[in-house]
Amino acid sequence: MTVIHPIRLGLNIDHVATIRNARGGNNPDPVRAAMLAVESGVDGITAHLREDRRHIRDEDMARLKLEIAKPLNFEMAATEEMKKIALRVKPHAACLVPEKRLERTTEGGLDVVGQRDHLKLFIAELNEAGIRVSLFIEPDRKAIETSHALGASVIELHTGTYCEAFAHGDHQRAAHELARLNEGAAIAGALGLEVHAGHGLDFATAKKLAEISEIREFNIGHFIIGEAIFIGLHHAIMQMRAAINQGRTRARPR
Ligand code: PXP
Repeated sequence: MTVIHPIRLGLNIDHVATIRNARGGNNPDPVRAAMLAVESGVDGITAHLREDRRHIRDEDMARLKLEIAKPLNFEMAATEEMKKIALRVKPHAACLVPEKRLERTTEGGLDVVGQRDHLKLFIAELNEAGIRVSLFIEPDRKAIETSHALGASVIELHTGTYCEAFAHGDHQRAAHELARLNEGAAIAGALGLEVHAGHGLDFATAKKLAEISEIREFNIGHFIIGEAIFIGLHHAIMQMRAAINQGRTRARPR
């Protein structure tokens, strides 16, 4: 039977860097945002160093690792360049994501089946360096089973399609996507994988998904940073935490 653990909240600070980079210079500083978030009780910080460096820069990663007292989750594409940086920075975890230059954000889950051989070696190298590897995937049985076979200890389920359907009031599609996430989490949990979830989450969707007992961590960025404009980062984090905790009271062991 699944034990119901509290859900950890990781804050993705990419979009603080997006605002900084819109003007060049150093403000607002994503590391300062990460420190404030830690003071406000987040359990970890996520940052995505993209190939095009459109938001987070190399020096941000190095500073985050040095200056932040909570686990750093390094989101990255499975490229040689990123692997070298990860091995140097030595974050707590690396979340492998697909990356296309022209996309606005990470658009889909990693093709773990198609990139099997490449990923197996890649994951092994990060694991050997003591970096926990998480694979950002669709809630699909084959992808989950392959992630397990490749040696990842964590999967992060892509919640973007569910959140989009929810935001558009497409109840039928949202229910379908919710069922996929629920089933995917159950499959992963049964295999012994730790289950994280993220992309597109807001107060309502995080609260709903917190009912899925296997989920141990959410990684949330855009919505919290956006909300911080209106109510401040501290309050945005506190409200997100409250929404997650409320949803969690409805989680039931399988
Ligand atoms: N998790 C992963 C793997 C992501 O790629 C992203 C987006 O960078 C997030 C979580 C956070 O998504 P959002 O910014 O939509 O909350």
